[in-house]
Amino acid sequence: MDRRPPGPPGDARRGDAGLVSGPSPQRRLGVAGGDAVSPPSAPADGAERVRLRFLPEGAEVRVPSGTPVFDAASWNGIAIDSTCGGHGTCKKCRVRIVSGEVPVGPLDPRAFSVDELHEGWRLACRASARGDLVVEVPPLQTRPKAALAGVGRHVILRPAVQKRHLVLEEPSMEDQRSDLQRVLDALEDLEPHTSIEGLRVLGSVLRSSGWDVTAVVCDQELIDLEPGDTTARRFAIAFDVGTTTVVATLLDLESGQPVAVRSLLNRQQPFGADVITRISATMMDSEALGALSARVHETMASLVSEVCAEGEVDPREVYEITICGNVTMMHLALGIDPEPLSMAPFVVSTHSLPEVLASDFGVTVHPRAPAFVFPSLGAYVGGDIVAGMLATGLTRDRRLRLFIDVGTNSEIALGSVDRVVATAAPAGPAFEAAQIRCGMRAAPGAIEGVKLSGDAVSLDVIGDQEPVGICGSGLVDAVAELVHCGLLDHSGRFIPDDDASQSHPGLSDRLTKIGEERVFVLDWRGGADPERAVFLSQRDVRELQFAKASIATGWNILMRELGVDDSYISQVLLAGSFGAYLTPLSAVRIGLVPRIALPRIVSAGNVAGEGAKIAALSVRERAEAHSILREVEYVELSGRADFNDMFVDQLSFPG
Ligand code: FES
Repeated sequence: MDRRPPGPPGDARRGDAGLVSGPSPQRRLGVAGGDAVSPPSAPADGAERVRLRFLPEGAEVRVPSGTPVFDAASWNGIAIDSTCGGHGTCKKCRVRIVSGEVPVGPLDPRAFSVDELHEGWRLACRASARGDLVVEVPPLQTRPKAALAGVGRHVILRPAVQKRHLVLEEPSMEDQRSDLQRVLDALEDLEPHTSIEGLRVLGSVLRSSGWDVTAVVCDQELIDLEPGDTTARRFAIAFDVGTTTVVATLLDLESGQPVAVRSLLNRQQPFGADVITRISATMMDSEALGALSARVHETMASLVSEVCAEGEVDPREVYEITICGNVTMMHLALGIDPEPLSMAPFVVSTHSLPEVLASDFGVTVHPRAPAFVFPSLGAYVGGDIVAGMLATGLTRDRRLRLFIDVGTNSEIALGSVDRVVATAAPAGPAFEAAQIRCGMRAAPGAIEGVKLSGDAVSLDVIGDQEPVGICGSGLVDAVAELVHCGLLDHSGRFIPDDDASQSHPGLSDRLTKIGEERVFVLDWRGGADPERAVFLSQRDVRELQFAKASIATGWNILMRELGVDDSYISQVLLAGSFGAYLTPLSAVRIGLVPRIALPRIVSAGNVAGEGAKIAALSVRERAEAHSILREVEYVELSGRADFNDMFVDQLSFPG
């Protein structure tokens, strides 16, 4: 097996939506049949942008040609009336096309008079924007709820999970409609289909409840009938399945608020710390894939128990789960052979998974709860990054922003509403402090911050205890400070001892040797023996240098693709847990990020998890995840003629 940190395949932006029944709302809509449930006339093709202006506010947005007007509004926080969430069944999403062309669709005559059609009235969820439009949005009849999620985003609440309380007439000789038809007739704004499992319990629930029931519809499927009025209680769980940690957030879909959040170490850890080692395990042992699936299922199941207990929610009231994770994690969780991900040409089994249930991930929630899994751009730009782009609104923002998820495989995206390019840079494990002489995880005893001022070395140690080692953020800080004070030169070499004792007499005794290797002692740990100290070695500096050069080459190539330089970048978003601890100043000093004003370099936190939450709260935002798959252009680094020169240029530390 090629164990180089791999790059993703070159055709990563092509989705598989046409090959398998993907989990997107549009794919599911086709099941019930008829115009009422067909997707808008054509999907956005992503090739061309159109401009929409919404009246009366005058807000302007740019979206791919073919995007439904309803989605364009929704993605940009403009509320249009709806109770069906864009499924074409409620007829409430009335808008008037003031300028531009939108042909009358098959559903429009059912919602509007001939005069209204002439005046330009259309159903927004069926109206595809294929040219520039001015659209009048009438005042809302109902006030939509919104939740704050992602990076400062207001998400209009419209979960896939809907409940309707129904009080039905009992059948009689005069009214012999079927049980199912009686329910469907009462569901005015929804037209779900049902499964054989649903039919098995339908009749008995109707009769035992005295025909007073709550219909539970998830996306376009009637997944349950519950006795009485249970409309106030509907929940979902958003999972971020990481290689190291799995996070679960229990969401109240009525309010959009998180009820409980818990995280656990991924129980796959004994099979290796990174994705390549876990893939290797499956190649060496035919039992390993099953064991790895079972381990992550156990982790997720434990989290379900914990969040439901904390939130005082019956797991049966969790009607859907949403999941983001890197491609390997999703393959392993679903028992799909991950071997092709580890070898050139690094091919994924599919970009969009077929419909799967929560039970396919081994979790016990509502037995017919579906699982929405984020699509992936390629083998090394997975659903976690698509979720991160959704949470940050990267593809919808006018500002040019750089998104970096720093890790063994670092994902990088650069763009705005006009165009987004992405790549994956194999940075190796330096940022996780693996293969660093005194490296350790960010755990108690790890130096996570370093400051040099004059002759003083001050350390931030996790748990305020004696230092045991150094974690990734401490490593970056240490190198940045040493370059800044001049003990490391810009090429990453410790300066000669004589120079050090002249320029930094108070620090020069820390610059010493272990064997033949030069080291800088960060903490002597109460003795004078450098071997017992916590130190930074010349080789450690080199490890970091290669890692940061790989990432910097990635974003430099993306800037070249867009024809821009640093000065165009409005914001750098550092995603993931490592990004949360990285000091912007140190990141600039080692050249990990472009040299822009420090307040513009922000830690975006766990944006993947935020994306999973957003997908649970809004079906329109979820559709955006599939749009990202079509729109974002993947840039392959390995085949580029300019890669080597640029990599060499990026090896130096700017200081
Ligand atoms: S018909 Fe319900 S949103 Fe368009």
